[in-house]
Amino acid sequence: MLESSSVLLFIVFVLLFLLLLFVVLVRKNGTAALIWNEIIREKITNFIMNQSKEQRILNFVLQNAVRGDPCSVMDTIDKYCSQKEWAMNVGCEKGLILDKTVEEIKPSVVLELGTYCGYSAIRIARLLKAGARLLTVEFNPEFAAIAKQMIEFAGVQDKVNILEGPSEEIIPQLKKKYEVDTLDFVFLDHWKDRYSPDTILLQECNLLRKGSVLLADNVICPGAPEFLKYIRNNPSFQCTNYPAHLEYMEVQDAMEKAVFLG
Ligand SMILES: C[S@@+](CC[C@H](N)C(=O)[O-])C[C@H]1O[C@@H](n2cnc3c(N)ncnc32)[C@H](O)[C@@H]1O
Repeated sequence: MLESSSVLLFIVFVLLFLLLLFVVLVRKNGTAALIWNEIIREKITNFIMNQSKEQRILNFVLQNAVRGDPCSVMDTIDKYCSQKEWAMNVGCEKGLILDKTVEEIKPSVVLELGTYCGYSAIRIARLLKAGARLLTVEFNPEFAAIAKQMIEFAGVQDKVNILEGPSEEIIPQLKKKYEVDTLDFVFLDHWKDRYSPDTILLQECNLLRKGSVLLADNVICPGAPEFLKYIRNNPSFQCTNYPAHLEYMEVQDAMEKAVFLG
């Protein structure tokens, strides 16, 4: 009797230890955090609520943010994603690096690869000068529809054009179909294995001019090693790294800025 209760106690102790270890890993380790947030927790909540996380983010914004106020929309998304459910928006900390880059360049034509719910699109659009435009590319129709509503609610729809489809198909259409001459600023924030092929495609399509700026998110977590190798060893680009943290986490991340030298 005494022996079986000690075994049970030991098992409970081991399980508690493993749980504690997992919680620490989720806070500090990018891969563990992404597995927990994006696969386990999100799938369970979607099943229980019969609704996607992105729809829940939109509903929270519609109920709590101020219509026509981009900063209120951004703050409300940040509040939801830091307190309730993690999501892959660029977030506030790296958002400030994005803001600073846009303010420095004062771009007329911006391309964003990876719209998701429209958080970074709203962040960029609110800083654009009169007449400037942002083209943002998203291949997931559900995310594109959420982003459209989010962007309209923030009141920046006149500056933003959501292009639905894969980046590798949209980029070659930019000149003719969307009347782009060259891009002043490109924000790369789609799947990381597309960063270098799409950077090559932008050059092949003559969409970069001397001084065009690329800013790539998540170059450490989840990481874009191929892109970093390509861009840092390419004499046509001058690179700067901005260390930061993964959105809404203590996990190390960074953004990479690359100025095209022509
Ligand atoms: C990290 S999220 C973008 C977050 C967004 N920039 C923000 O900060 O609010 C990446 C998005 O890119 C989209 N995506 C990934 N690869 C893509 C591709 N090749 N073409 C178009 N969209 C892509 C995904 O569906 C996802 O919505």
